Amino acid sequence: MKIMILGGDGYLGWPTAMAFASKGHEVIAVDNYLRRNIALETSSEPLIPCPNLIERADIFQAVSNYKIKTAIADCADYLQLTNLFRDFHPDAVIHYAEQPSAPYSMIDFQTAQKTFSNNLNATFNLIWAVKEFAPECHIVKLGTMGEYGTPDIDIEEGWIDIEHNGRKDTFLYPRQAGSLYHTTKVLDTDLLWFYVRTYGLRVTDLMQGPVYGLSTAESDLDTRLLPNFHYDDIFGTVVNRFLVQAVAGVPLTVYGKGGQTRGYLNLKDTLQCVELAVDSPVKKGELRILNQFTEQFSVNHLAEKVQAVGNKMGLKVKIEAIENPRKEKEDHYYNAKHHGLMEMGLKPHYMTDEVVTKMLEEIIIRKDQIDPKKIMPRVKWNN
Ligand SMILES: NC(=O)c1ccc[n+]([C@@H]2O[C@H](COP(=O)([O-])OP(=O)(O)OC[C@H]3O[C@@H](n4cnc5c(N)ncnc54)[C@H](O)[C@@H]3O)[C@@H](O)[C@H]2O)c1
Repeated sequence: MKIMILGGDGYLGWPTAMAFASKGHEVIAVDNYLRRNIALETSSEPLIPCPNLIERADIFQAVSNYKIKTAIADCADYLQLTNLFRDFHPDAVIHYAEQPSAPYSMIDFQTAQKTFSNNLNATFNLIWAVKEFAPECHIVKLGTMGEYGTPDIDIEEGWIDIEHNGRKDTFLYPRQAGSLYHTTKVLDTDLLWFYVRTYGLRVTDLMQGPVYGLSTAESDLDTRLLPNFHYDDIFGTVVNRFLVQAVAGVPLTVYGKGGQTRGYLNLKDTLQCVELAVDSPVKKGELRILNQFTEQFSVNHLAEKVQAVGNKMGLKVKIEAIENPRKEKEDHYYNAKHHGLMEMGLKPHYMTDEVVTKMLEEIIIRKDQIDPKKIMPRVKWNN
């Protein structure tokens, strides 16, 4: 297949590009380096330096013999995106090209506006590029479990049946996100649903939980092929921050009561899920929504897990609750369904002690590069 990966330089986009190229697909990775630029602006550089997209593709070809085409282009610019569609004619597009940091979207007007216009324009332009230049193309869009928020009822897989005054209908499951970034993903879903109904597009919207890990079949070939690994408060997700804190000898910072529960998954499982979605495209006029995570943990549970494994490795890990910079429920009901991808064949890689040990070992060899100033929260929701 001809597969276009938007956001192909990112944490998920780069391993995805390598995985599809290794399976013999023709792949183009598209990126405008937005994340690299924001990381520089906010002093949030990754722990492991990454060669740029063009260099990475060259290194990958040298070690594997598989080619990844690259394009430095802005998906929020319609002309740039449509030029790529005219040249490449994708069968499937995997859309990762968004500003994904919740804290960044909450700093001030400029960062909120940049997140809003980048994310909505990238999705809107993609919809129109597919409609105009590749109407058969299957869009696989990365959404987030954060779109649903933390309602006091079970979270269904995308849709909910509602009975009202004796009549029944099916609707998008109610979404109530906890940051402007997550709200842009809610708006993306609504946009996609509108255009699926109206123009008969084919779309899979993957509601993904936080991803952890560095190791994939291809990134293990050469350390220069590892995905970006952020541990700061802007781009670092909670698992990465805890792992780095454990190694740096800084107490694991639990925000508030630590009862915040979410569904997590291993990077290897993101690759499986995206491949399962691409391999079974939906019919025209269908929006398929799948909840993409394999196990759920509270923040306290995660901290205790990292502490237990770290202590076995002699790290003397401490845990410290700090004031929550976010506005979110810290103790709540959470039961999210996630059958769809399992029924399609997902074989989960769970967060075992061995997996945590391997991630800690990757960080220990880079201990000298950790900058503890990057770890503590710099952004408050009620600024
Ligand atoms: N990583 C996670 O834990 C996670 C969890 C849930 C959902 N997601 C979603 O998955 C997607 C990818 O996340 P990630 O962690 O790889 O983030 P990332 O920031 O590492 O990757 C996104 C990439 O998209 C690029 N990009 C952004 N806007 C662009 C534009 N207008 N044109 C071209 N390129 C653009 C960035 O430069 C970056 O390289 C995001 O949409 C995110 O919302 C990620």
